[in-house]
Amino acid sequence: MVTGCANMDRLNGPARLMIVSDLDHTMVDHHDPENLSILQFNALWEANFRLDSLLVFSTGRSPTLYKQLRREKPMLTPDITIMSVGTEITYGESMVPDDGWEEFLNQKWDRNIVIEETAKFPQLQFQSGTEQRPHKVSFYVEKEHVQEIMKSLSERLEKRGLDIKIIYSGGMDLDVLPQEAGKGQALAYLLKKFKSEARPPVNTLVCGDSGNDAELFSVPDVYGVMVSNAQEELLHWYSQNAKHNPKVIHATEKCAAGIIQAIGHFGLGPGASPRDVTDYSQSKSGTLTPAHEIVKFYTLYEKWRRGEVGNAESHLQDLKRTCQPNGVAVHPWGFEQPLHECINALGSCYGDKQGKKFCVWVDKVSSSQIGSDIWLVKFDKWEMVDEERRCCLTTVLLQLQPESFDGFIWVHLHQTWLDGFRNGQHTGWFF
Ligand code: GLC
Ligand code: MG
Repeated sequence: MVTGCANMDRLNGPARLMIVSDLDHTMVDHHDPENLSILQFNALWEANFRLDSLLVFSTGRSPTLYKQLRREKPMLTPDITIMSVGTEITYGESMVPDDGWEEFLNQKWDRNIVIEETAKFPQLQFQSGTEQRPHKVSFYVEKEHVQEIMKSLSERLEKRGLDIKIIYSGGMDLDVLPQEAGKGQALAYLLKKFKSEARPPVNTLVCGDSGNDAELFSVPDVYGVMVSNAQEELLHWYSQNAKHNPKVIHATEKCAAGIIQAIGHFGLGPGASPRDVTDYSQSKSGTLTPAHEIVKFYTLYEKWRRGEVGNAESHLQDLKRTCQPNGVAVHPWGFEQPLHECINALGSCYGDKQGKKFCVWVDKVSSSQIGSDIWLVKFDKWEMVDEERRCCLTTVLLQLQPESFDGFIWVHLHQTWLDGFRNGQHTGWFF
């Protein structure tokens, strides 16, 4: 039934944690131009979870609007993308569709009948063409009419032989879907599939803020977080259906900060992001991983250029210590430079992005041990300056330094522009 699950095979065994998160007003805070909480989440995910866990986005958006959001916000690449309120599932970065799922949804579904019947309700206003999908017909409706419309529309459609589901979200959106569709059903389908492959995730955490997320919280055995800014319709559903479920919380933190809070609350991992660490000196605890080292480095790098690091000179010395004396960087435009020179150049650019909207994040961090003390780490490194963004495919060789301190030394750095960023500027590029 399932085709093209390339990225699910990124992990050989069960995922340690599978996060299934809504996007608008859950992972993505549209009221925060600095994108603070999603950047915190990104750092936590890449440092602690990317290697052995699965990230699933579950959104009401169509593929068109989902891709638009990815261009606007610093979003990670998920392993699985569920779109159009659980009616479309795709795998991996190339978004290979699960055709079996769509075929399955054809049962007792006829779009034309839905359109005929909904036309009889003048209070229903069609959403834009991009949001009308093979198994989803969507409208705007005023709150006061919702109850009555949901009731009589479902009666009419039932009479016409359809088995449908009507979902109300965000105090204004009304979606008509096949009964078997929805965010909860799509998740149940994925969990069943992992089970059939003998690798169900060890833990699953669902995250949402509005009506179309409610179903996620009734999937058996999952942890759930409703972010602090959750909509009335979801909180109402919760008070009626899930109030006594100890595996679901209403966070006190907004959006992605609420997800981090839940990770800590349920003991699924650290309840704080590496971005919030203020001590950049090497950890003595011996718990650093190559992924963590990369995230930590770019967190410092971003704060450095924003001019937000206290005690700059000592950090510069620390950075030098973490680069091998004869280590080399190959910049994305092909220029080779000793790592120590890169650090010197960075030193003289302290605070050069002050007053600008500047942020840095890494995506898709993978690492493999290629020698007794050497790791090859690959990732996409993103920089956003005001509204402009650039991405480099980056490879770093890290060497463990057990004697001098408990951390890694950068031996080699190699970067190439991601397609479409080849004309990126050369100036002001260091790592
Ligand atoms: C997203 C979709 C919209 C849908 C809403 C609620 O905003 O774009 O079509 O109605 O989610 O599910
Ligand atoms: Mg939402």
